Amino acid sequence: MQKVIINIKKLVQVEENPALKVCGELMASVNCVENAYLIISEDKIQEFGLMSDLNKEISTFEEIIDANGGFVYPSFCDSHTHLVYAGSREIEYVDKIKGLSYEEIAKKGGGILNSAKLLNNTSEDELYIQAKKRIDEIISQGTGAVEIKSGYGLTLDAELKMLRVIKRLKADCPIIIKSTFLGAHSVPLEYKGRQAGYVNLVVEEMIPKVADQKLADYIDVFCDKGFFTVEETDKILKQGIKYGLTPKIHANELDFSGGVQVGVKNKALSVDHLEYVGENEISSLKNSDTMPTILPGAALFLNLPYAPARKMISAGLPVAVASDFNPGSSPSGNMKLMMSLAMINHKMTAQEVLNATTINTAYAMGISQKVGSIAKGKIANLFITEKMTNIEFFPYSYGSNLIKTVILKGEIVK
Ligand code: NIG
Ligand code: FE
Repeated sequence: MQKVIINIKKLVQVEENPALKVCGELMASVNCVENAYLIISEDKIQEFGLMSDLNKEISTFEEIIDANGGFVYPSFCDSHTHLVYAGSREIEYVDKIKGLSYEEIAKKGGGILNSAKLLNNTSEDELYIQAKKRIDEIISQGTGAVEIKSGYGLTLDAELKMLRVIKRLKADCPIIIKSTFLGAHSVPLEYKGRQAGYVNLVVEEMIPKVADQKLADYIDVFCDKGFFTVEETDKILKQGIKYGLTPKIHANELDFSGGVQVGVKNKALSVDHLEYVGENEISSLKNSDTMPTILPGAALFLNLPYAPARKMISAGLPVAVASDFNPGSSPSGNMKLMMSLAMINHKMTAQEVLNATTINTAYAMGISQKVGSIAKGKIANLFITEKMTNIEFFPYSYGSNLIKTVILKGEIVK
C-alpha cells in the first residue's frame, strides 16, 4: 500500500546517509528539501524529492495526503518519561511556589513517595486508563516514540504492576515504546533508615523478576544527593547489565553527584538531567558513547540551574532533549514546548533543538537506526504542520500546537 504526501513546503531533517546521533557543531545543521513530496510504503518512508520530480501519476496512489504548504517533520522521540502514574501532585506544586525545595517535599513524605502511595491504591486497569490518556495527548503533540519508567511502585508487586501497564500500552498504541525499570527511584517508607536493605531488594529480587518476565529494556537509578549513592548505583547497574538491561540513569540533577561518571563507567546509553555538570563530567562524557540528555521542563518547574547545553555542544558532545513527563517535576510531555524551553533557557538554536528532540533522543532509546529523521527505509513517523515561514517559527510559537496531521507507522492517527 503506497501513500504520497504532496505540496510539502519544507521536508525537514532529511538524511541521505543516516547517522546514529549528531554531535557538537554538526547539531547546528538540519537538511531540508523545499517544495517536496514523500512516498510511504506500508509503514516505511520509501522515497522523497522535489514536487517537480514526482514522476508517478498521483491517482495511482492508494492515498493522497495534501500537506497544503505545511512543513513535514520526523516525529519527536521522547527518551525520558514517567508517564505511568496515578493521580496528580498539584498541591506540592503550590508548596514549591511557597518556597519548599524538592528535597524538603520529599522529606515530608511527599514527592515520589506520595505518587507511590497513590499508585498502590490504584488498580492496574485504572492506571492503564490514566496513562493511555497521556499517550494520546503526546501523540497529538507530535511524539512518535517514548520511553516510560517504573519507579512509583517501590515494592516488587507494584513495580511489576507498572511495568505490565507499560507492556500493555506497547501492544495497544501506535507509538513506539521502550520500558525502563527504576526500582531505585526513592527509598520507600518501610525501608527508612535501612537504605542498604532496599538496594538489596532491588538487586536480589526485583531485577531478576523484571528480567525473567521480560518487562524492561533498560535499568535506571536516581543517583543524586538524598537519593542513591554512586556505590549503590554501581551495584544496581551491574546487576541490571548481568540481566540484560542497559543503563540509562538520572544523574546530577541536585548536585555534582558522581552520577555522570558512574553512568559512563557502566556504558549507560544516556545520563539524564545534568543540571550540575562541570569540566570533569564533560571530559568523562567525551570519552564515551553515552548521550547527555537535558530535561528543560524539570529545570523550569523546579527552578533548578540550567544544564550547560552550550558548554557540552562546544566540547563536541551530542545533547538530547526529553520531557521527563511526570507528576512531580514536569507535568507535561509536550516536546514542542521542551524545544522552546531548550532554546530560551539553555540557549540552543532551533536547528540544535530539532536534532536534540529527534535523532539524539532516538539514540538515547536505542532506535536511531529506525526513526529520528526523514530517511529512506526509516519508519514513517511524521507530522505535518500548519503553514509556516521557517524552522524557527515552530519553537517560537510556544503556546500553539501547529501540528495538523500525525502519521505513525505509515497511518494517519490525527
Ligand atoms: O526525573 N528526579 C527524579 N525523578 C523524577 C521526578 C519524579 C517525581 O518527582 O515524581 C524526575 O524529575
Ligand atoms: Fe525523570
